[in-house]
Amino acid sequence: MRSIVLTAYGEAPYLTEVAMPEPGTTDVLVRVVAASLNPLDNKLQAGYMDGFFPLTFPSKMGTDVAGIVEKTGSLMSRWRVGDRVVARLAPTAGGAFAEFALVPEDQLVLIPEGIDFDQAAGMPTAAATAWQALFETAGLTAGQTVLIHAGAGGVGSFAIQFAHAAGARVVATASGDGIEIARRLGADQVIDYRAADFASAVSDADVVLDTIGGDTQQKSFGVLRRGGKLITIVSPPDETLAKAHGVEAAFVFHASDGKRLSTVMKEIASKGMSPLIDSTFSLEAFGEAFARQASGRARGKISIRI
Ligand SMILES: NC(=O)c1ccc[n+]([C@@H]2O[C@H](COP(=O)([O-])OP(=O)(O)OC[C@H]3O[C@@H](n4cnc5c(N)ncnc54)[C@H](OP(=O)(O)O)[C@@H]3O)[C@@H](O)[C@H]2O)c1
Repeated sequence: MRSIVLTAYGEAPYLTEVAMPEPGTTDVLVRVVAASLNPLDNKLQAGYMDGFFPLTFPSKMGTDVAGIVEKTGSLMSRWRVGDRVVARLAPTAGGAFAEFALVPEDQLVLIPEGIDFDQAAGMPTAAATAWQALFETAGLTAGQTVLIHAGAGGVGSFAIQFAHAAGARVVATASGDGIEIARRLGADQVIDYRAADFASAVSDADVVLDTIGGDTQQKSFGVLRRGGKLITIVSPPDETLAKAHGVEAAFVFHASDGKRLSTVMKEIASKGMSPLIDSTFSLEAFGEAFARQASGRARGKISIRI
């Protein structure tokens, strides 16, 4: 079968023939229909994540996968050949950008009706991280105000929809056509971060979702009410600044969790949310998809159709 493979940090990932994986007793073999990219793929390739996710080379790439069950490793499996499934693979194992992927049974989730493979493939990392940050860590509730940075990005586009559906007042940052996209997704107010200082436009927010880090994170402390919460998914927050502003700060590091993914998929399906797809590429054009993800300009998710 064919897979995108990386042979060393910093090298260009490429498409090549690899051995067909065989499921062990707790695995399922999935015929991949779609996979999505994340900034994590660029960071893994560059070697930035070596401290958390050390790769052994040659390494198959890709974490977010959607497809059809081809074969189960055990006759007792609760999965059936032909099931439509989605999963997040361990970053150290990879294997989503391939014709077939080996998935641990407990990481598989059924794709609800009404969600197609490209949409499903976009959810495991981005949607589940947005959910974890907003509800499990920040405890966002109806009536609260949340500032979501990069509202047109992979995580931000899901976060806006989740927060809006939960009855929160949503403020988002975006630029260019991202402004209209963020509005359409449910943001009540969108700040063009290139034209205006978001820190002057927002005050007394209950929650900030920081998807940018650096200066954006530093300035975000000032838009919170006392006791508010800054949740960052990019870099550990500055505790001294948090104390100085009288707010809480937390770093969310998303871990694959089939249960959470199942909850998130059901929420998206039942509320009729539409995952934002930036672009779709073939496996042969993976290099273009990888460059598009690395640009940092995506509107929603970049999909690979196998
Ligand atoms: N901790 C975790 O577990 C975890 C999980 C998922 C993601 N992450 C990290 O979170 C970050 C975001 O991920 P993602 O998938 O959402 O990325 P993404 O889809 O690549 O984000 C792209 C979006 O960011 C916007 N953007 C760039 N700079 C901006 C700024 N200064 N202010 C506002 N918007 C800006 C771009 O809009 P413009 O083109 O208009 O600038 C674009 O729409 C990445 O660093 C990723 O690695 C961490």
